[in-house]
Amino acid sequence: MSARARLAWVALGGLLALGIGSLPGPLTAQDPDLVAKGRRLVEDVADCGECHTPLTATGEPDERYHLAGHVAGLPVPTNSAFKDLKGSGAVTYARNLTPDPETGLGAWSEEEFRRTLKEGVNREGRPLRHPMPWKRFLKAFGDEDIRAIWAYLRSLPPVKNQVPEAGVPPQ
Ligand code: HEC
Repeated sequence: MSARARLAWVALGGLLALGIGSLPGPLTAQDPDLVAKGRRLVEDVADCGECHTPLTATGEPDERYHLAGHVAGLPVPTNSAFKDLKGSGAVTYARNLTPDPETGLGAWSEEEFRRTLKEGVNREGRPLRHPMPWKRFLKAFGDEDIRAIWAYLRSLPPVKNQVPEAGVPPQ
């Protein structure tokens, strides 16, 4: 290979590396300390999985769906599906927090995530329904904590799980 051809390959490699580095999701190199802090906040402090990880038939957290939200067809109510307190029959489902681009937070920006936890609205601007405890998080977490939570969620394996839309009574 000529020196010029070699140079072209090196340049192409550099461009590819840049492109890959800017992709969202687990491909992005994450600061390990930030991820570790986020893991502690999500798993130990706030226990997001209490609602966002569905249970198996024997009542254990279903690790195949770790933080991947309610799975369609599970009984309602359960730890990840909540009936409207006023008895309308509407149900709210804990959503998929893994970085799957179609069914999880893969296409979200960090700013959209921050807004959800701080202001209690989803990506489309709809106010979050009960019992997503965002008011509690607003008080408990600073911007640095939310960055860490985001970094940890980004580091999870993406799980494809289409959570049913909130408000629709189960069939
Ligand atoms: C007590 C149950 C509960 C806990 C604990 C909980 N959530 Fe939620 N979360 C929900 C429910 C229910 C929804 C759906 C609300 C709706 O559809 O309006 C939700 C929605 C969300 C959304 C919006 C996702 C989307 O696709 O619109 C995000 C982001 C989120 N939760 C993050 C978290 C994080 C991060 C934690 C832990 C720090 C957490 N939640 C803990 C119940 C919970």
